[in-house]
Parts: sequence; C-alpha cells; structure tokens
Amino acid sequence: MKMNDYIELIDKALDEFMVIHYPHRIFKAMKYTVTLPGKRLRPVMCLETCRMFGGNYEDAVPTACAIEMLHAQTLIHDDLPCMDNDDFRRGKLTNHRVFGEAHAVLAGDALLTFAPQTILKYSKNLGTEKLIKIMEEYFHAAGAYGVIAGQVVDIESEKLLSAYPPLEGGSKSAISGRGNSDFEDILNYIHIHKTADLFKLALRTGAIIADADDNKIAQITEFGQNLGVAFQIADDILDETSTFEQMGKTIGKDKAEGKLTYTSLYGLEKSKKDLNSLIDECFEILNKNNLKSEVFEQILNKIRIN
Ligand code: IPE
Ligand code: IPE
Ligand code: MG
Ligand code: MG
Ligand code: MG
Repeated sequence: MKMNDYIELIDKALDEFMVIHYPHRIFKAMKYTVTLPGKRLRPVMCLETCRMFGGNYEDAVPTACAIEMLHAQTLIHDDLPCMDNDDFRRGKLTNHRVFGEAHAVLAGDALLTFAPQTILKYSKNLGTEKLIKIMEEYFHAAGAYGVIAGQVVDIESEKLLSAYPPLEGGSKSAISGRGNSDFEDILNYIHIHKTADLFKLALRTGAIIADADDNKIAQITEFGQNLGVAFQIADDILDETSTFEQMGKTIGKDKAEGKLTYTSLYGLEKSKKDLNSLIDECFEILNKNNLKSEVFEQILNKIRIN
C-alpha cells in the first residue's frame, strides 16, 4: 500500500465510524477536528507496521482510526485558551473557536472514550487477548503516564528559560539551581511523552495486531521513540521558520509564550543537526533489523530539514 491509499482508507473509515447522534453539537464538534485534513501520520504508521510484520492491515483500521481520534483530542485540548491558546488548526479555526470552550473541552473528553469504544466495536477479527493488549497500550499512552504527563510538564515549563536562564558552559544557575542538563532532561521528558508516546502507540498496536514477537515490538518501540522526538524537534523548528500556509496553524507562538522547546534551548542550527541525526538513527534501526518499508522511508525523509 502507498501512503495516499492508506490515507484514503483512513479518511473513509473515520467518516463511517463517526456518526452524528443526538446531542448533535457534541458529535459535530468531535468530528470537526478529527476529519480536518491532518497528515494522518499516526494511523498510517499503525497500518504500515501491521503490514510490515506480516499482518492484515485491514484488521488494524479501527485501531488506527482510534489513534487519530485520540490525537485530535490532544490537539483540541492543546489549543484551548488555558493551554496554548491557538486560533487555527489544520488550516481552519480551532475547535473552541467554532463550538465554544465548553463544547471543545467536552468534545476532547468524549473522543478520549469514543476512540477505544471504536476499537472494541469494529475490530471483528481481533480476539479478546489482543483487544486487552491494545486497550492497555491505549490507556497508557492517552493518560497520566503518557501524553498528559508530557502536556503537564510542557505547560509547567513555560517561562522557565527566561526566568532562570541556564549559565554558559552548563554550570548551575545561582537562582534556580538548574543547569543546562536539567533543562535538557525536562525537554526530553516533554518530547517523549507529549509526542513520542502516541507514535509508539501507533507502532506497537500495529505490531500487536500482526502478532509480532517481543523482540520485534522492542525494535519498533525504539524506532518510535526516536521518530517521535525527531518529529517534535521538527515541529519546534518549523514554529520558527515555517508559514501558516505550510503548517495550518499560527507560527511563532512558542517564542511568544516563552515555551521550553528544542530551538529555545539549543538554537536553530543545533536543532536541525540533532533532528537529522535522529532521522539517520531511525534509518539505521530499520536497516539493522531488516525492516523494509517505503512508507516509513517517505515519512522519515519528509521530516528532515536542511
Ligand atoms: C501536531 O501533530 C502535534 C505535534 C505533535 C507537533 P501533527 O503535525 O501530526 O498534526 P496533524 O495531524 O498533521 O494536524
Ligand atoms: C504538541 O505540542 C503536543 C500535543 C498536541 C499533544 P505543540 O503544542 O507544539 O503542538 P502544536 O504546535 O500546537 O501542533
Ligand atoms: Mg502545546
Ligand atoms: Mg500547541
Ligand atoms: Mg508546536
């Protein structure tokens, strides 16, 4: 399957799974952000991992779509005025700007439970044991051990750098007791949880559906960790260098809000260098484990920034 074939399949399934029931406004709010044209990276990666490990990718469609719903939930809440306060997402007004804050909060909450319900309802070919494993993965990534942990520390770290600038040469700041390595650890924690955890969820569930053994699951998890962190570094860079037309969201917000990002900590040049090293590492993981996938190669090359 090619990237665009997967995307077409996912878009069709998302539309079918998300029926508008009463009370209509909440189902419309849920469907609004999910069906706006995102890149669909996570569901594509779920289906491709399943295929790569010898499974039937069609069995993974409900799980892949559920992960896109969960991703949309994180976006809706991430954009709220109490979080990043963004007006645009995927080229259109954010959920709370269209439906109001209360409905946006509730739409996010609703998606968080609608997603695993979708897996249980539509995964006809998966037995109970696999479904329980998938649920474990989902709840781990979606909750306080996963994305939420990353988002909490992301929000708590706003203004940290400007309030306590780390000293030259990595020595500890007299005011905060924090040195460069502390900021590095915090940033790494944020990137792993707010972003890489959903990438790993997509890859690991695709592998589970394909009956991959523990060794293969470990390989794809390592790949997802590197790819997820690389992806967030790229997003941090693009927040400085890209355009609204390219990203579909307001650019330059990270700097304005004093976010702790890869570029605010390391500068643009090192960010690009580290991003590309991580991408190289991802290619190496594929090669050394004999994992063959044009789709993953395409994704990796797209994330690279020169
Ligand atoms: C946005 O993710 C949130 C980040 C982790 C940076 P994407 O860039 O994958 O967003 P969509 O799905 O294409 O809109
Ligand atoms: C993305 O972080 C993480 C989640 C949405 C969970 P950002 O806040 O950098 O994402 P964008 O830039 O708003 O897409
Ligand atoms: Mg954010
Ligand atoms: Mg944001
Ligand atoms: Mg960003």
